[in-house]
Amino acid sequence: MIEEHLKNHDDDNVDDFIHAYIKEMRLRKEKQEDTTLDLENLQRVIADLFVAGTETTATTIRWTMVYLLHYPEIQERCFREIQENIGQSRRPSMKDKTKLPYVEATIMEVLRRADIAPVALPHAVPHDVQFRGYTFPKGVQIIAMLDSVLQDPDVWGDPDNFRPDCFLDDSGTVVKRDEFIPFSLGRRVCLGESMARMELFLFLTTMIQRFKFVPVDGQMPSLDGIMG
Ligand code: HEM
Repeated sequence: MIEEHLKNHDDDNVDDFIHAYIKEMRLRKEKQEDTTLDLENLQRVIADLFVAGTETTATTIRWTMVYLLHYPEIQERCFREIQENIGQSRRPSMKDKTKLPYVEATIMEVLRRADIAPVALPHAVPHDVQFRGYTFPKGVQIIAMLDSVLQDPDVWGDPDNFRPDCFLDDSGTVVKRDEFIPFSLGRRVCLGESMARMELFLFLTTMIQRFKFVPVDGQMPSLDGIMG
């Protein structure tokens, strides 16, 4: 695809991401700027958009379907909240998010329970680090187990249950808990978190507004995930 784009590139006719990248890359090279925009990086950014950016959100949407089938009363409560605040005549938008705390709590509970990136990405320590009596020598690889927090009974009480209410306070407002870390945390937190949460809200709200999800012939899909 990149080779095709290079052959047909026209600076005055930029209609997709690859053309936009090529235009900017050439502009910076012409100005002899120090730039990381090269063809190798273009391939990597596209891989990121597919692996980090598409597969994750799509898998979370599929998990939401599985949970809505297993918990029809939760699906019904989401539907009613959408009906009461948006209705059927228009599509949901991001402006509706604050009016749909139960839908938001349901999405958060899917992100917690489905736990689709339990080991985040590998990192390394830049210098020797002492932690709880252990020494992590400079350069050693660290794999953080996000599921040790997302599925911790001391934090959630009943982490195996699917319970959107654990993200709502007594008045039904969404509570942000420090332990809610499906996108990891710190300086290398998921770069696409806000985009992912926007996509999840818009896709799922629209789907629940328009459809009712029921199992085929009463057959429930499994709640056991397959890593990778
Ligand atoms: C439900 C959706 C998603 C989940 C659960 C998720 C989760 C994660 C996690 C756990 C990490 C590792 C952070 C770490 O190593 O500490 C990560 C990194 C990353 N994610 Fe996501 N992600 C999602 C969607 C997206 C989207 C939509 C994009 C881009 C459009 C994206 C782009 C990235 C990138 C570029 C990184 C690497 C950041 C870095 O190393 O600085 N992700 N994501």
